[in-house]
Amino acid sequence: MPFTPRVFSGVQPTGQLHLGNYLGAVRRFVAMQDDYPCIYCVVDLHAITMWQDPKELIDATYSVTAAYLAAGIDPKKSIVFNQSRVTAHAELAWIFNCVARMGWLNRMTQFKEKAGKDKENASTGLFVYPNLMAADILAYQATHVPVGDDQKQHLELTRDIAQKFNHDYAERLAELGYGEDGLFPMTEPIIQGPATRVMSLRDGSKKMSKSEASDASRINLTDDADAIAQKIRKAKTDPEPLPSDVKGLEGRPEADNLVGIYAALASTTKEAVLTDHGGQGFSAFKPALAELAVEVLAPMNAEMRRLLDDRAHLDAVLTDGAERAHAIAAPILRDVKRVVGFVS
Ligand code: TRP
Repeated sequence: MPFTPRVFSGVQPTGQLHLGNYLGAVRRFVAMQDDYPCIYCVVDLHAITMWQDPKELIDATYSVTAAYLAAGIDPKKSIVFNQSRVTAHAELAWIFNCVARMGWLNRMTQFKEKAGKDKENASTGLFVYPNLMAADILAYQATHVPVGDDQKQHLELTRDIAQKFNHDYAERLAELGYGEDGLFPMTEPIIQGPATRVMSLRDGSKKMSKSEASDASRINLTDDADAIAQKIRKAKTDPEPLPSDVKGLEGRPEADNLVGIYAALASTTKEAVLTDHGGQGFSAFKPALAELAVEVLAPMNAEMRRLLDDRAHLDAVLTDGAERAHAIAAPILRDVKRVVGFVS
């Protein structure tokens, strides 16, 4: 593969960050820094596909930035910035609006979920959201994208767009000296670990979500130790003790979720958790889980608060990140424009 390995991922600055964002995304971003050059974006352009109060959008942008840093993303090593500052995203997204097909976007399940019943009233941005996501990734020719499994379909679409672009412009790419692989890589999603899908504490069939009305359904990264312990104590469960192997979690979504959260927080597997805790009732397991959650989240929580009190530092990180991101994306976008046939 002629493409240099590079990681890109993003989190939307909407509402409160929670344990699902941390275990399913941010913590895995941290781990990848040792193996790849990484770009971590706060995707504010994506956020406004649904109405956002401007002041809340600003706060949420700083909050995601602080969470990135508090979780251990090193802004000297990795690039941390907010999407709207680097114009390549919006420009490439427009070109991709003209590459992707209506039929492809009509199949996107996230649009259907987010638009809900009143599809006519959804923003057109929400419909082309996946094209912007493809632009995020391909503006840097990123080869690997750590995401939760709900984003798998968007990554498939990203590959479809890359492939169609490489194919439709094959002749022109060859004339301009590109090899067989074209201009865009076939980006791979990285979906792994015990908690790529953290579920609601109130309903094991629903994803933990910032938009869920009940705050008891999620552990926010800003929750203090008491709130964390209380939410875990009140989490919905069934009356059976924990099984001794993973097979025994089948048909028990709430138990499965809590065991998955424990495993992810302890950096181990569900098997190992059940080896230690199988046979225990929830009255014993929940306090153990609460203790572990507080142990992992409390230091991060403190660091996040410290960072949020220092906006000047966060601004400096975002400004520096945007410059470095621009430096990578600009030559790629310049080539895309030449390929397409834009006179400059
Ligand atoms: N759609 C992603 C989510 O909701 C966020 C996102 C936007 C993203 N652009 C991206 C993730 C590019 C990975 C790569 O979680």
